[in-house]
Amino acid sequence: MTRLAIDFGSSETKIYMSGCGVVLKEATCMAVEEWLEGEVTHLKVKAYGDKARALSGRAAVNTHIINPVFEGDIVHENLAACLLENFLEKVEVTRRKAKHTEVIFILPCGCEPELKKKYVKIAEECGIGSVYFTITPFAAVLGHNVTISESTPMFVLDIGYGITNIAAISQDGLISGINVNLGGGNIDVHIIDDLAVHRNMKIGALTAERLKNTVGSLLPDDNKMTVADGREVSGGTPASLSVNSSQLYDIIVTYIDKILEYVSLVMAKLPAEVSSGIMRGGIYLSGGVMKMDGLAEYIESKLKVPVNLPEEPQLAAVIGAGVMLSSDKLFEKLATD
Ligand SMILES: Nc1ncnc2c1ncn2[C@@H]1O[C@H](COP(=O)(O)OP(=O)(O)OP(=O)(O)O)[C@@H](O)[C@H]1O
Ligand SMILES: [Mg+2]
Repeated sequence: MTRLAIDFGSSETKIYMSGCGVVLKEATCMAVEEWLEGEVTHLKVKAYGDKARALSGRAAVNTHIINPVFEGDIVHENLAACLLENFLEKVEVTRRKAKHTEVIFILPCGCEPELKKKYVKIAEECGIGSVYFTITPFAAVLGHNVTISESTPMFVLDIGYGITNIAAISQDGLISGINVNLGGGNIDVHIIDDLAVHRNMKIGALTAERLKNTVGSLLPDDNKMTVADGREVSGGTPASLSVNSSQLYDIIVTYIDKILEYVSLVMAKLPAEVSSGIMRGGIYLSGGVMKMDGLAEYIESKLKVPVNLPEEPQLAAVIGAGVMLSSDKLFEKLATD
């Protein structure tokens, strides 16, 4: 019997295989060619995952780069099933093997029941034998290599690409939690707009993401620098410019502060005993954006609550769901069908 944990993120799909660890991390992305024959539209997938994302901004006119998961929701069911099937093949879970495979999907906290139905449907299309679910906060805490305490509640903040999960949990279940449609993607879009307006430079989405991930920093006085290629807004001439950490600081802080306002709202509504437990244990951080230099320290000083940052925040949720796979007790308690 194969057991998998799958985090079908808005930006990256992560797969953990029981006994092996993380076996896949690829863009949740497809390059789809579309053409008309008479009245009928035909679609053909040209590339999956990282190869599809690399075509972003340079694909042929009739090729669309599609993310079937948007802000945590599955927005193209058929394409999502097709992409998942490709990823399963990549980790050598063939259709025949899929029948004998148990999968835990990690869903955003507080998602609509409709989302579970979509996952069940795409799992069926991929021939997966049994489907279970958990939510990001439980998975992310376990990804910190800690046990969910029987007595002390825990607080989780996961910032991904399109969605942020904020929750207080205990061994008994979710105490309070929300998801908000904010994440690294918003920062990328703002970087694109800012460079166009203030520096007359048009850059693509992949370049904006690279700028954020390489020079973006909330460390005071950080001064990393890189060069971005694009073209001038006026005139369209190809051009390059240098971008440094301080030029991105205000943009990044705008979104992080918005997210921290939601964190404060969730915290303010918790019962006093829960809050004091959280003050002692600290906030458990996860999600790809937590890789940014200085972000954990910024959150700690802004909220005046200690924080816990795992070694690989982007993989914390899938690793944590992987921990559930190998413990029958946790599997029974936290993964529900
Ligand atoms: N070093 C870095 N600094 C800042 N952001 C980063 C860094 N590395 C990755 N990211 C960002 O993390 C985000 C992806 O994180 P993650 O994989 O947790 O999201 P996801 O699970 O795909 O999305 P979601 O949870 O919103 O559905 C992207 O916006 C990416 O640019
Ligand atoms: Mg995620």
